[in-house]
Amino acid sequence: MKEFSKEVLDGNFQWGVSTAAYQTEGAISTDDKGPSIWDVFSNRPGKTYNNQNANLACDFYHRYPEDLQIIHDLAIPNFRFSVAWSRILPQGIGKVNQLGLDFYDRLIDHCLESGIQPWVTLYHWDLPQALEQKGGWTNRNIVAWFSEFVSVVVDRYRDRVTNWMVINEPMVFTGAGYFLGIHAPGRRGLKNFLSSIHHATLCQAEGGRLIRDLQPNAFIGTTFSCSPVEAATDSERDQKAAERVDALLNRLFIEPCLGLGYPTEKFTVLSKLEKFQQPGDEQRMVFDFDFIGLQNYTREVIRHSWSMPYIFARQVPPQKRNVSTTLMGWEVYPNAIYQILKQFHERYALKNIIITENGAAFDDKLHDNKVSDHERQNYLRQHIQACLQAKAEGIPLNGYFVWTLTDNFEWAEGYHPTFGLVHVNFQNQQRRIKQSGYWYSKLIQEYRKQAQRLNIRV
Ligand code: FCB
Repeated sequence: MKEFSKEVLDGNFQWGVSTAAYQTEGAISTDDKGPSIWDVFSNRPGKTYNNQNANLACDFYHRYPEDLQIIHDLAIPNFRFSVAWSRILPQGIGKVNQLGLDFYDRLIDHCLESGIQPWVTLYHWDLPQALEQKGGWTNRNIVAWFSEFVSVVVDRYRDRVTNWMVINEPMVFTGAGYFLGIHAPGRRGLKNFLSSIHHATLCQAEGGRLIRDLQPNAFIGTTFSCSPVEAATDSERDQKAAERVDALLNRLFIEPCLGLGYPTEKFTVLSKLEKFQQPGDEQRMVFDFDFIGLQNYTREVIRHSWSMPYIFARQVPPQKRNVSTTLMGWEVYPNAIYQILKQFHERYALKNIIITENGAAFDDKLHDNKVSDHERQNYLRQHIQACLQAKAEGIPLNGYFVWTLTDNFEWAEGYHPTFGLVHVNFQNQQRRIKQSGYWYSKLIQEYRKQAQRLNIRV
């Protein structure tokens, strides 16, 4: 990597790596853990790629010391992971499971002893199944259930955890889980979708407020998936279709939290959200987060389509545009992350942005015990350069986390898309750091050295 420009070297930039409980932990019923919607969904036939599940996954529940050792050896200073709700409260509410709390005690303590800062996501899609049976995210009582969970977790770890993220990508778990039915819990339809959107929006803000009350010095964020949306042509129909998709993908969850309400003007179907709103909700949806986590992987090219209900828009698949893609079928387009940072900056003037996920799945080959994953290294290099370019232009970007540490269970796609900086042999759980992992480590050290040099001069 080229020298870092003076504009980006402030020494406080947070480099890290991100994971999630369900994708890595395994041990799905160990130590009195209750079932989550993902445990149930992925063990149903026909729901995931080759019927794979995360019953064992990376066995992170038992192997976390080895994985933290890798993070330590690579000198990656920040580690983002999530807490599995049904380990802490096996029934979602009510009786607290001491053994579940103990696990995250061990994990957090081990992080701190290894000089790694924990960044904890409270909800990364693994709702306790007992709550799904009561309606899950479609039931407004989720605000009380979620508050109970947040209070137990924050109260327990506030002496050691400063950095919190309330919810991971609400658009994805409501859209894929409650509208399309391709993620857990596998529900479909507009009513399920809209009710879960509104309840997630309330939980997002309520979670922030609870953390603030319990821990005034906490650094509180939440994370959004986002992709720049381009119209396939400059016809008015395609432009309007792209605006609807943009409202859904990039505006729906952040705008109510900033006090702007739902973006109904560009996508009128969203005005049906009103049905689920109660007096006072406009205010309840607002919270002043210390940072906004943005997660970007690609861009979307959109055209008008009558065959897609409600949205009347369709993606022009990258395969049809003759561009290079990852194993997820997502276009490799590094400028996307720059564009989306600029878009969020220009629209909302956010005070603090962190890229809490970015990364790529490629078909890694193990040769002589080595994974020479040039494609991933290139992907990361170009995306980091684009981020630092945005930072140099004055966008308040203060951190970047790679998705992800180890190859893991990629939801409905199973184990086939490998995103890790570390290869996992799922037959014997052996880990091998890929070339991209060593490269990322070097990049962080280089940044740090140059920042120190600059600080000394200042
Ligand atoms: C994001 C999810 C994360 C992972 C990556 C590839 O949408 O937050 O869990 O699946 O995509």
